[in-house]
Amino acid sequence: MAGEKKIETRIIRAPREAMDLAGMRLAAEALAAGALVVFPTETVYGLGANARDAQAVREIYAIKGRPPDNPLIVHLSHPGLIGTVASYIPPYAESLIERFVPGPLTLVLRRGEGLASLVSAGLDTVAVRCPSHPVAQAFLAMTGVPVAAPSANVSGRPSPTRVEHVLQDLDGRVPYVIDAGPSDVGLESTVLDVSGDTPILLRPGAVTALEIEETCGLPVQIADAQSTGPVRSPGVKYRHYAPSATVLVGNGRSLAARTRRTVDLVQAQLEAGARVGVFAPTAAVQAIEKAIRHRPDLVGSLRSVAFGEEDDSARAAARLFDTFRSMDREGVAVIVVQALPEHGLGAAFMNRVRKAAAGQAGAGGG
Ligand code: TXA
Ligand code: MG
Repeated sequence: MAGEKKIETRIIRAPREAMDLAGMRLAAEALAAGALVVFPTETVYGLGANARDAQAVREIYAIKGRPPDNPLIVHLSHPGLIGTVASYIPPYAESLIERFVPGPLTLVLRRGEGLASLVSAGLDTVAVRCPSHPVAQAFLAMTGVPVAAPSANVSGRPSPTRVEHVLQDLDGRVPYVIDAGPSDVGLESTVLDVSGDTPILLRPGAVTALEIEETCGLPVQIADAQSTGPVRSPGVKYRHYAPSATVLVGNGRSLAARTRRTVDLVQAQLEAGARVGVFAPTAAVQAIEKAIRHRPDLVGSLRSVAFGEEDDSARAAARLFDTFRSMDREGVAVIVVQALPEHGLGAAFMNRVRKAAAGQAGAGGG
């Protein structure tokens, strides 16, 4: 960001029970008038702009360093407003809205009138989301406009789940940041294309493919980022969620195999002289600490974050991006993440971990 003109970033404290409503109103008015505002949601923090204001939307891309072909999600204070930005909602999508909206589900619909065209990066669809977070809902209602918002990170970096992360990337670049504490979910919303006859899952999140199928009674097609042909969700082709450290995955068919693989990877990296971070269930972290307890040289190079039981994927998800960022700041060279079984939130967790572990090529995503 060298050379960029710095502005003063004002932080508005908004814990759920004691929101600074006057501060939020000030930020909401500024957003409606063209300024960018960072606001909390239940998934990750968003960098918001008036979706009807082409100049404000352009500034989102500039500040994030986001490729112009990667469209933004339009945020609304409640589901009743979807019809103001989308031109058609198919009946099967209505059942999904009924059950999951507001919440961590983004729907890609046929685009309505009045939005800056850059919001959709030239596509004839628009992604829409109504957050369930009470502070997000209050703030969005105060703006009185549809709010285009990507995650509030510099492109390619892990999405921010705390205001501290937002400031690492955007301090001095936005006038207002609304702080409601750590995000609950910690991974970005499920993105589902419902612009056609059947739903297509573009990005896994807290609302799962199985839940979607059960609700709308239609099979969910899973978009394949590797497939050729037109890119359905431009965001999926970029490296995302990535710490500067190299990410290795401790995978295996059983919990015992995953634990063993994680322990082996960490030990091998420590023996090779690296500063190593590990993010794993508590049992794996304990096994590593036990294995190296007579090696003070290695103990000093290990940074560990344990998230409890393997089946507590909600806890693992909530801490993943925070762990990436804090380990980066501690100069860790290699982060070993123990794989989770790919059901429920585990599928979204593994999607982000695999992207973080993918090669450095193609950086510059969401
Ligand atoms: O949880 C979330 O979704 C957070 C919070 C702030 O709401 N937002 C977020 O935005 O993660 P972003 O910009 O980081 O990711 C948006 C994703 C990208 O993968 C983008 O390509 C996809 O949604 N997307 C947006 N509009 C689309 C469209 N019209 N068609 C297909 N994909 C779209
Ligand atoms: Mg993003």
